Amino acid sequence: MTVGVGIIGTGVMGAEHGRLLDREISGAQVRAVFDLDAGRAAAIAASLRSARVCDDPFELITESTVDAVVVASSDPTHEQFVLAALAAGKPVLCEKPLAPDVAGCERIIAAELAAGRQLVSVGFMRRFDPGYQQLKQAVEGDRLGLPLMLHCTHRNQQAPAGLSSELLISGSAVHELDIARWLLGEELSRVTVHRPRSSRVSQPTEDPLFLVLESSSGVLIDIEVFLNSGYGYEVRCELVAEQGTVFLDAPAPIIERRAGDVLRTVPADWRPRFAAAYRNELQNWIDSIGRGLPCEAATSWDGYAATVAAQAAILALRTGDPQPIGGMARPELYPAPVGSDRLTQTVAPA
Ligand code: NAI
Repeated sequence: MTVGVGIIGTGVMGAEHGRLLDREISGAQVRAVFDLDAGRAAAIAASLRSARVCDDPFELITESTVDAVVVASSDPTHEQFVLAALAAGKPVLCEKPLAPDVAGCERIIAAELAAGRQLVSVGFMRRFDPGYQQLKQAVEGDRLGLPLMLHCTHRNQQAPAGLSSELLISGSAVHELDIARWLLGEELSRVTVHRPRSSRVSQPTEDPLFLVLESSSGVLIDIEVFLNSGYGYEVRCELVAEQGTVFLDAPAPIIERRAGDVLRTVPADWRPRFAAAYRNELQNWIDSIGRGLPCEAATSWDGYAATVAAQAAILALRTGDPQPIGGMARPELYPAPVGSDRLTQTVAPA
């Protein structure tokens, strides 16, 4: 079956998803697009082989040629489109965050529980990155022992002007919050946010920020998020375990040695760095719809848990105090995190 896809929001991410679905993903056809900016929607539709511009996002969702929906509009608009896709009984891949506020995520979970089946995937694409997947295999294998600490670094070349400090957390650190839950296979329980001296380039935005979290079994996680790093987009991650460490460096295909320098190119943004992840995420999503294969993407529950942690971190930023990361119990519809059985075993003191 060819899966007919409708895309809502044709900015940077919607355009990239459209291009991938049109050119690189098998079993998919983009049939309709919508954006508040009609000119942008028309330009993207014209670049795709079978897409037309819809005048109304809710009509796009219910249109008979659209089997599944990608939501790539701005963060506060996600909830209404995901709820409409659920009401129409259609699978939806929603860019992160599922919703910026916890109540919005709860409404989506309630609607999905009422539908009785998982229809929502959240675009935490790092789960499909070959490097992060190798990291997870190492964590789950026996050779390293139990994880003790996780060091995460998230740097962008340049932040959009006027970005709020809260958006460093809800827009960028949220990827690290999700990947920490996924790698460790357990929930986060507590967060503190430190404010180093802010870069003069970023002021008045507080940038960088440094988050310190604890997982439910006691792993300590630190996250540096620095959006005006000035040099490029770079994501790194090191897990420290009982018997060794495993480090995800910024992958670069070549290293150039010339004129006294050793040079490794750093991408300007996340698209080249996570090109394989976006492709793998979309292919898995389409295969799960068209061929009935298991969908490996983050669920509404993962989207909810990431927003709960991000909101606790924002409160910690505002108050300067550590904050608990709470939330409701995981409904049965959603699988337990992989690895949770092994990794949440706490080590008995000697
Ligand atoms: P963007 O600003 O380039 O595009 C957003 C688009 O949404 C714009 O074209 C805008 O006109 C449109 N839009 C706004 N309100 C709308 C509405 N009510 N209905 C339809 N269209 C509407 O932003 P970008 O970077 O493409 O981000 C889109 C989403 O993807 C955001 O939620 C963002 O957080 C997420 N994102 C995810 C990334 C990832 O690595 N997974 C990376 C970057 C962004």
